[in-house]
Amino acid sequence: MESSSSSTPQLGITQRLRRLRTTPIIRTMVREHDVQLRDLVYPLFIEENLSSPVPITGLPGLTRLPESKLADEIRTLDALGIRCVMPFGVSHHKDDIGSDTWQRDGLLSRMIRTIKSACPDMMVIPDICFCEYTTHGHCGAITDQDVDNDQTVANLVKQCVNAAEAGADMLAPSSMMDGQVGAIRRGLDAAGFNKVAILAHSAKFASAFYGPFRQAVECELQGDRRTYQLDYANGRQALSEAILDEQEGADILMVKPGTPYLDVLAQLRSQTRLPLAAYQVSGEYAAIKCSAQMGIINEQEAVLETLTGFKRAGADLIVTYFAKQFALWQQAAPSTMPITE
Ligand code: PBG
Repeated sequence: MESSSSSTPQLGITQRLRRLRTTPIIRTMVREHDVQLRDLVYPLFIEENLSSPVPITGLPGLTRLPESKLADEIRTLDALGIRCVMPFGVSHHKDDIGSDTWQRDGLLSRMIRTIKSACPDMMVIPDICFCEYTTHGHCGAITDQDVDNDQTVANLVKQCVNAAEAGADMLAPSSMMDGQVGAIRRGLDAAGFNKVAILAHSAKFASAFYGPFRQAVECELQGDRRTYQLDYANGRQALSEAILDEQEGADILMVKPGTPYLDVLAQLRSQTRLPLAAYQVSGEYAAIKCSAQMGIINEQEAVLETLTGFKRAGADLIVTYFAKQFALWQQAAPSTMPITE
């Protein structure tokens, strides 16, 4: 019998997972996921009839950009290595159905044309919805105090054909109407746009985390969106929405918001072979940003941790308001990004 004369106790274990965590080099070699700038989509808020950028109070560091400054901003983003943007219009031409979205000279169409002429290689994925263009703030036309599914779908098709004519590469319908993806696919194909892809907001939950966005686009929502957006208690139903979108012809499926719904993303990853996207929404951005401003969280580390979490859960693409910041960090310290050590 051996006496334990050594002061180090012997646990008798052979599996020591800490061995692969001993140095930054080995940690990097066994790292399973990382985030690259090419994975990110940058949302932009563009307002018509505005002379200078307006800071968005709920989204520190972000502004509503005047339409006249959009081309310059796109060139700046391109120089930073951002490849893909998602424009949101802040409309001064609202009505009860959001008809500005299917006008050839409407804000949506103009934004897309401006981006494409400033930088033809910049990929443009406009949000396809009505809430930024309706007086009541809902995502479609209202009949009997509820959003009218089929009328809204017909209007979405008009909006999509208009966006495709303006040069959009991909469309991101977000109004959560039943059958919207199938109708949009058929409408685009009939109009000769069979190369324009659909990034479906498949599992979009009615969420408190959209708060800063609604303020940013000055959406005066009357009521709430619970008759069309998903109930956050329902994971199986979210998967049904996504699988239906795939059957209707979606090219990419998205889960939104991101952080509270990583389980949905991970389950969806095992049920489809399509690429997946996650949307880190305005309230998630604000939570990190405001905590960083209070000095209680490290912004860069928190951003990399959340974005890597989306990748780990199964996202290929991530829509995030941090995309420009990510590009700036990378520019400042290319050898350390996206890895913090
Ligand atoms: C509207 C739309 C919303 C967001 C994107 N598109 C708001 C909503 O549904 O109320 C939210 C995005 C964000 O919070 O960052 N269809």
